[in-house]
Amino acid sequence: MILRQVNPTDVQVIYEINSGIQAFPWTKKALEEEMQNSQFKGWVFCDKVNITGYLFARLGDDVSEIMTLGVSQHHQRTGAATKLLNQLISLGRDIILEVSDNNEGAVTLYKKMGFKIFNIRKSYYPDGSNALCMKLNIANPQ
Ligand SMILES: CC(C)(COP(=O)(O)OP(=O)(O)OC[C@H]1O[C@@H](n2cnc3c(N)ncnc32)[C@H](O)[C@@H]1OP(=O)(O)O)[C@@H](O)C(=O)NCCC(=O)NCCS
Repeated sequence: MILRQVNPTDVQVIYEINSGIQAFPWTKKALEEEMQNSQFKGWVFCDKVNITGYLFARLGDDVSEIMTLGVSQHHQRTGAATKLLNQLISLGRDIILEVSDNNEGAVTLYKKMGFKIFNIRKSYYPDGSNALCMKLNIANPQ
């Protein structure tokens, strides 16, 4: 198992994983543009051969924002997302994210990692589900 920074050449594989697992998948162009963002930081998790998970974030001065996180179907529940999140946590900034309240697995993961809901955006997603705005306080833990 390897956790490493994203390379521009990883985008096709990330796109394919993302398309297979996300309720609202990113286009390849959107992923490429995100990788060009000045605050972009991303990692991939790989088994012996293939990329199996990815995390894209934007690093602000005090707060990081998770833009997208995913693990391919066959590699879920093996700790990949936890390892990717721990990599971001190790940077020592607070972390925010938005997740659909329909996404039970992700919400469970984030709560387990210590994220707390601080706002709810009603009917935010195309399917009418609410966005839970969640935050992990690292700099000033409560
Ligand atoms: C949500 C997601 C990233 C979790 O990735 P993962 O690598 O399977 O997560 P982990 O193995 O690190 O799980 C850690 C813990 O989170 C919780 N968890 C993760 N997925 C879960 C699920 N589907 N249902 C319930 N709990 C879940 C569990 O407590 C799990 O611990 P356990 O396996 O010992 O019970 C993955 O399911 C995924 O890619 N989903 C589709 C995309 C997505 O929803 N991304 C996040 C929102 S952008």
